[in-house]
Amino acid sequence: MYMRNFTLLIFIMMNYAHAETIQGPNLGKPVSSAVVDRWNRDIFPNGEGLPTGAGSAYKGKIIYQQQCLSCHGVDGAGGSADELAGALHSLTDDPPDKVVGNYWPYATTVFDFIRRSMPLHAPGKLSNDEVYAVTAYLLALNGIISEDKIIDNNNLSKIEMPNRDGFINTFKK
Ligand code: HEC
Repeated sequence: MYMRNFTLLIFIMMNYAHAETIQGPNLGKPVSSAVVDRWNRDIFPNGEGLPTGAGSAYKGKIIYQQQCLSCHGVDGAGGSADELAGALHSLTDDPPDKVVGNYWPYATTVFDFIRRSMPLHAPGKLSNDEVYAVTAYLLALNGIISEDKIIDNNNLSKIEMPNRDGFINTFKK
């Protein structure tokens, strides 16, 4: 009895494997390019992958106050979530005081992170222009760019972050 069931099982498995190689498991459906575009949004330090758009800190400040301040605090510090600006001491102190301005190696990564995950309760809510603007605001708060500089898909990768050599760069081209 046991042997017969075992043989039957092998037989079923072989047939299943055979059918699978011919027509596949027939699960799921093709993914639309709109869905792929929504997930395929990696941005590289050289600017590859940046969407078209632009913004400055002036507009970014308003967006920050509406969408970010409640968690990250006034001027990027003192909130319940991570400090984004206003480091009180250095990155080389123990423990270091890490903020966007002294820690993050690339401005493009700041944009990428905000676009894919902030605001925390509604990621993806901001338009590309709004992400550029709020990124500009954080860069200006950290003294990296001036408040009136307009950042866009052509110049964001050219902004030099102070800690750009503090990481192992596997993307350098
Ligand atoms: C509901 C609370 C909340 C809101 C609103 C929010 N954040 Fe955050 N944010 C967090 C938390 C919590 C973290 C840390 C968790 C993480 O890294 O995923 C974080 C992390 C970050 C970081 C990374 C900080 C670091 O150095 O690791 C950035 C940059 C950031 N947020 C930007 C923004 C911006 C810009 C907005 C507004 C568009 C925003 N956040 C709105 C809660 C929030």
